[in-house]
Amino acid sequence: MGRNPRVAIIGQEPVTRDEIQKMLAVSGFAVVGEAGYGIEAVSLAKETEPDVVVISVEEPLIRALQTVEALSDLLPHSPIIAYSSLRDPNAMRKSMLAGVSDFLMAPVKEDELVNSINTVLQQEERRRARAAGEADGPVAAGTVITIFGAKGGIGKTTIATNLATALVQKTNQSVVVVDLDTRFGDVAILMDIPVERSIADMAMPEEEITREIVEECIYVHSTGVAILPAPIRPTDWRSVHAGHIERIVNLLTQTYDYVILDTPGTFNDIVARSLEVATMVMLVCTVDMASLKDTLLAIDMLRSWNFPQDKIKLTINATNDAINVQPAEVKRMLGRDVFWSIPYDRNISAATQLGMPVVVTKPDSKAASSLVEMAYALSGVSQQKSSSQKEPTKSGFLNRILGSASEETSEVSVE
Ligand SMILES: Nc1ncnc2c1ncn2[C@@H]1O[C@H](COP(=O)(O)OP(=O)(O)OP(=O)(O)O)[C@@H](O)[C@H]1O
Ligand SMILES: [Mg+2]
Repeated sequence: MGRNPRVAIIGQEPVTRDEIQKMLAVSGFAVVGEAGYGIEAVSLAKETEPDVVVISVEEPLIRALQTVEALSDLLPHSPIIAYSSLRDPNAMRKSMLAGVSDFLMAPVKEDELVNSINTVLQQEERRRARAAGEADGPVAAGTVITIFGAKGGIGKTTIATNLATALVQKTNQSVVVVDLDTRFGDVAILMDIPVERSIADMAMPEEEITREIVEECIYVHSTGVAILPAPIRPTDWRSVHAGHIERIVNLLTQTYDYVILDTPGTFNDIVARSLEVATMVMLVCTVDMASLKDTLLAIDMLRSWNFPQDKIKLTINATNDAINVQPAEVKRMLGRDVFWSIPYDRNISAATQLGMPVVVTKPDSKAASSLVEMAYALSGVSQQKSSSQKEPTKSGFLNRILGSASEETSEVSVE
């Protein structure tokens, strides 16, 4: 931004507005005006079209929130920063939902406010650049969704494979799942495909990897989902580096609408790179205290990298029915909204046994409905009945493990 950012100050108390105005003036911002809540704020915003709005969020909360909503509708590209003396986490959450980009505690310090303004403006610039890049770019750039979690066994692979299937079958988008589980990649097992080629076949100088070479390592599953499997032997990962992942993902985004990266329950440089290249990180967490604490640490880690927080989509997955933490409690503990909540459903483990996503084996189950709705929500495609739902293939978990197919073992019941 070439000129000094233009800021509008909104709040019920003229005295506190003046304090903010003084702080901003010394820090080189152009204050375009001050106003109270409601129509006053809206008129000021209309007249001056500020780059940023700083609003004091105080009681009556509903008036403050209505003002935030009106301003974010009116100026969708001007970030709003709230500051408040209310110590109620609900006020913060509601403000975020109404459209504020940052929430500061009053009394606000000058450096805090300046940092916040600079951060939200940078975010907005990046967002604009991305939007412009997508509109003008010569090659289609697919969305990279990294499925990440603080530990193992929380449903990351289940979500990756089902989301991929739902995106392909319901929203008609092309999707590739890349198995980055550096210990025991099991996308191939969950999708029941043989693995002869894998990501380890691309352990060559990065610049030599071409789109054609990547395509040769990809399997297309009967659901239509493309899969780039992990090597069968975990030791083969030794020759694959973070740079390979970045190159491969970049090439895949030129071909596919969605590139879904499934990560292991451990942390390493490949996982770090897969977070960096993500358009969106689905942070998976189960509803037990240990998982919540680990998730909080993961959020802190990402924050310490200055990872854009708006990319993180918190997803709760109930991997067992002994739910001991309520969703509201999850939001309170993690200090952020839950993007999606997947219910516990025994059909998921039955589908795992069949090597088919539950969205195919039991499309009417509650887990499948939730996963399909998530795909609609992510793609922005409106929900409609699909005729392309395919029948599950009947091959069993034991067959895949033992490699000897027989009709009896293939008839694993789905309940
Ligand atoms: N919502 C759910 N309801 C019931 N069972 C579930 C649910 N989500 C996942 N599971 C089961 O939990 C187990 C672990 O799932 P999954 O393999 O997807 O986890 P993961 O996070 O990928 O694990 P890892 O980190 O070891 O790769 C599987 O047996 C799966 O069937
Ligand atoms: Mg997994």
